[in-house]
Amino acid sequence: MAHEGKRDWTDEERVQRMVKSYAVRYDNEFWKSLDSLTGSGTRETVADFGCGPGLLLVDIANKYSAKVAIGVDESKEMLAQADTFLKERTNLESFELVQVNLDTEEIPVEPDSIDYAFSGFMLHEVASPSVFVSQVRRHIRSQGLFVVYDFISGNEAAFVKTMSEHGMSEEQARKRYPHMCKHSAIDIEEILQTSGFQDCRMIAIDEIRAVVVGIKR
Ligand SMILES: C[S@@+](CC[C@H](N)C(=O)[O-])C[C@H]1O[C@@H](n2cnc3c(N)ncnc32)[C@H](O)[C@@H]1O
Repeated sequence: MAHEGKRDWTDEERVQRMVKSYAVRYDNEFWKSLDSLTGSGTRETVADFGCGPGLLLVDIANKYSAKVAIGVDESKEMLAQADTFLKERTNLESFELVQVNLDTEEIPVEPDSIDYAFSGFMLHEVASPSVFVSQVRRHIRSQGLFVVYDFISGNEAAFVKTMSEHGMSEEQARKRYPHMCKHSAIDIEEILQTSGFQDCRMIAIDEIRAVVVGIKR
């Protein structure tokens, strides 16, 4: 059966749709929640798993004055867009874009090398969230953070309303709700905890989105 929560991210039009919708998806409420969960300061190596077109990676690299950025995605079309944005919009010492299917392949990045890892609108797409999160954890340094931002379950009507406002038909939104809003905020927090992250905390930004963070001790 097709994964209704996952699209064909090699489609160039979808890549551009992700770019266009970035400011709406990563709005002020998101940044306020992120700040209150993770604070400011410097993070030398930042990474985005399922980085898509790379705009969030650009923003966190600049926000945390990172020297190195790593973007991981299975779509080479997304990574090509990320390459352009990282070159144009950051002053990183270096960056690496890695094409990997995180459901089936190991992440070819040094273990214990990332200070700040992120994953946005991605957890609901992976085949096994706990395998994915455990894999990410291995690549994070001691005291490093992992931030998951995703849709959450619990209010189908709010999800359908928001998606309809952004051009999805009501029928499609209802069909996709169980796949895109697969986990509650508490479920995501538990996935991080059971995968070995500590001091996990979350903020439900509204009825359909949450930010969750854990620390690798
Ligand atoms: C909804 S898009 C979000 C992109 C980006 N995080 C953002 O918010 O703009 C999901 C991204 O995750 C990637 N993705 C989904 N499943 C993946 C997997 N198993 N391995 C690697 N990348 C994956 C897709 O290629 C896509 O770029």
